Amino acid sequence: MYMDTSELSFIDGEKGELVYRGFHIDELAGRASFEETVYLLWYGRLPKAEELADFSKRIKAEYELPERVLETVRLCPKDAHPMDVLRTAVSALAMTDPDVADNSREAEIRKGIRLVAKFPAMLAAFQRLREGKEVIKPRSDLDLAANYLYMLTGQVPEESATRAMDMALVLHADHGMNASTFASRVVSATLSDVHAAVTAGIGCLKGPLHGGANQRVVEMLEKIGKPENARKYIEDMFARKERVPGFGHRVYKTLDPRSVHLKKASLEFAKKTGKTDWYEMLTTIQDVMMEKVGPRIAPNVDFYSGSVYAMLGIPLDMFTPIFAMSRVSGWVAHVMEQHGDNRLIRPRVQYVGPKGLKFVPIHKR
Ligand code: CMC
Repeated sequence: MYMDTSELSFIDGEKGELVYRGFHIDELAGRASFEETVYLLWYGRLPKAEELADFSKRIKAEYELPERVLETVRLCPKDAHPMDVLRTAVSALAMTDPDVADNSREAEIRKGIRLVAKFPAMLAAFQRLREGKEVIKPRSDLDLAANYLYMLTGQVPEESATRAMDMALVLHADHGMNASTFASRVVSATLSDVHAAVTAGIGCLKGPLHGGANQRVVEMLEKIGKPENARKYIEDMFARKERVPGFGHRVYKTLDPRSVHLKKASLEFAKKTGKTDWYEMLTTIQDVMMEKVGPRIAPNVDFYSGSVYAMLGIPLDMFTPIFAMSRVSGWVAHVMEQHGDNRLIRPRVQYVGPKGLKFVPIHKR
């Protein structure tokens, strides 16, 4: 059942198709940049060269964090989860944004650009600070994916690392009425602002049944240890009636098309780094799952993505934030679409509790 209409993205769960604004994800992955994808989502078409150059320039001009936001990140406990830091930093950013209360499309594009541009700096700053290192200023000559990797280490990343990160961002940008997008839309439908909607999205994405699954997959690989243990580990999970992270989806009843691209990237990095254990474990798990539950509970986007991020040297609890770094573009697109033709989202729930009870004074209960 459809709750509303949208022109942003479409999922065919039986065929395993994901479409952004008419483009199958296979058309975009490895071809369109993240910035180009954000433009596509927000403006409804691919940009011409000069439009993309201008849009990228506007994003780059917003890479740096306002001092108050950086100070907020500094004040976060070092053992905080980066998703909590991100949610807090976005709240702080709202209070520095001159457009915060303006829900016009032009203001929402400006706010969206600031949000998309500043997520990498918020996350990289927290990572540096919790390692006891200096925060690295963004480099406005680098595109968003490369700039994020640069701010983590101070090294301009290799071309292959930038390409993989950029593609991961493209693949995570939008995904129909997923839980965090729904949360963002509900918030925006009250005519609240885009920052409020984005904080709701972050809170929702953090959960292990949503964006938190990529971290769980790599935690599982670490527990499995070596490829020969993988089969028994999964069999034991089934015996305990546990769910295998990175498998299954509410909409896809076949392979998630995003996982195909991430699997290729995972193999590429496994070969490049010589660390093939994880890739072997992942493919063994995929085989065992096929035997146990068949093709309808298949790898989702989170199954291979974590292994790619880990091979890029990104810490485990930064995986879900990468998902957020991309999905913020989708949340903003949905807020703009919602505000373009708004109606309060207020579902009803079927009451199944008792009725007609009589009040009993407290001393007689
Ligand atoms: N491992 C083992 N069995 C599973 C799994 C799994 N990962 N996923 C679903 N099943 C089984 C489930 O036990 C159920 O069997 P039964 O009917 O016998 O109880 C059957 O498949 C149907 O599952 P469901 O709970 O009705 O499916 P759902 O649509 O409510 O849940 C899901 C979807 C994503 C929450 C679930 O598949 C899951 O918990 N997966 C693991 C967590 C995960 O990888 N999440 C990331 C989702 S994709 C990225 C994102 O959206 O953020």
